[in-house]
Amino acid sequence: MTTLPVGIDDIAASTTSLMFPLAALAAAHDTSAGKYHRGIGQDEMSVPADDEDIVTLAARAAAPIIERHGSEGIRTLLLATETGIDQSKAAGVFVHDLLELPPNVRVVELKEACYSATSALQFALGIVARNPDEKVLVIASDVARYELDSSGEATQGAGAVAMLVAAHPRVLEIEPASGLFTENVHDFWRPNDRTTALVDGRYSVTVYLRAMEVAWQDYRERGGSPIDTISRICFHQPFTKMAAKAMQKLAKTAGLEDSAKAVSDLADTMTLNRRLGNTYTASSYMALLSLLEAGSLGDGERVGIFSYGSGAVAEFFTGVLVRGYREQLRTGDLTAMLDARREISYSEYRERHIAADRTGNFDTVHETLGNFRFAGVRDSIRVYEKTDNSPRA
Ligand code: HMG
Repeated sequence: MTTLPVGIDDIAASTTSLMFPLAALAAAHDTSAGKYHRGIGQDEMSVPADDEDIVTLAARAAAPIIERHGSEGIRTLLLATETGIDQSKAAGVFVHDLLELPPNVRVVELKEACYSATSALQFALGIVARNPDEKVLVIASDVARYELDSSGEATQGAGAVAMLVAAHPRVLEIEPASGLFTENVHDFWRPNDRTTALVDGRYSVTVYLRAMEVAWQDYRERGGSPIDTISRICFHQPFTKMAAKAMQKLAKTAGLEDSAKAVSDLADTMTLNRRLGNTYTASSYMALLSLLEAGSLGDGERVGIFSYGSGAVAEFFTGVLVRGYREQLRTGDLTAMLDARREISYSEYRERHIAADRTGNFDTVHETLGNFRFAGVRDSIRVYEKTDNSPRA
């Protein structure tokens, strides 16, 4: 029996319009910048402008996909996030409106910490396998926030990845084997009355590594490929050094001889995340985009993806790069967005962190460099609008 090839037909990403360098955080905390640059492997964090949130990030990531393919065939939009903007209404409904998608689309939001974009992708594959004429727009969009002066502060970030899932995909054909893990733990979580996450940092690293081992073993038991046939693995990167730790551990578990090479080869999955910070649900797919844009893998090579969400759920799966995948990419677009961000000072960073907790009705300042903006809250309703690309003074 031949199975229908399904997978990622297109991929695009976005980030915010402000940036805070970790060297400045280190100076303010009287810490060595080396701790951040080498110890956790991060250089910068993306910070949302006043009129940016997960909806504007998601629309900005997905707009080039709609521009290229149109909305024909898209009957499902799945938005994965752990930065929910409403307890009831799915953020994707606002994105559906901003992207001017037709009404005959099912839209839902998925949540399980950083993992849920992978469940969205797997659900999308199922929909497409059953209805090969349909396409699914999967979007992962998040703003990672920890308390000021906490250990997690250096790992904040923001960004979104959009993927079009279709039959006969032109970027990555996803293979059927998948390894899973779930365990009820409290390594990182955000209660309803908090805008920042609670985290037991060291414990979260331990659970991540254990989840990875269990998911890998399950992947192998379910017919997954041996480690030496997987050219590169895109790990969830709460900070990029985490991927190096995971690769070291996996090399040992799976019996890979040259673990040092496997770790150093991960560099081309880290380029974007080093500058974005943690993008939660989008992180593994930012690693994938980074790898694809590096262009170091040839057509037909196998890529592994490890997705981890605290709490905790994890999954390991693989895909094969489709012939000509490089021609589908918008190489350099996200890097141009990263370069365009305005660098903010430590005092401005702190002021913005505190201001982000405001409630009630308010108007935002026009700051975004993107084409969609969060205009504010009026009568308890979040208001979004399209804009030309230029911020006003
Ligand atoms: P910390 O306590 O500030 O840092 O927090 P540390 O003291 O453990 O140092 C970090 C590393 O820097 C160490 O290396 C030091 O040796 C090194 P390691 O032992 O880990 O290899 N170091 C230096 N290296 C070079 N030059 C120097 C120097 N100084 C020190 N001068 C921690 C680190 C990760 C705990 C913290 O950032 C944190 O709490 N982060 C948030 C939680 C997190 O990211 N957890 C990751 C796993 S859980 C996950 O991925 C899920 C998540 O994305 C959420 C979700 O699912 O929704 C977080």
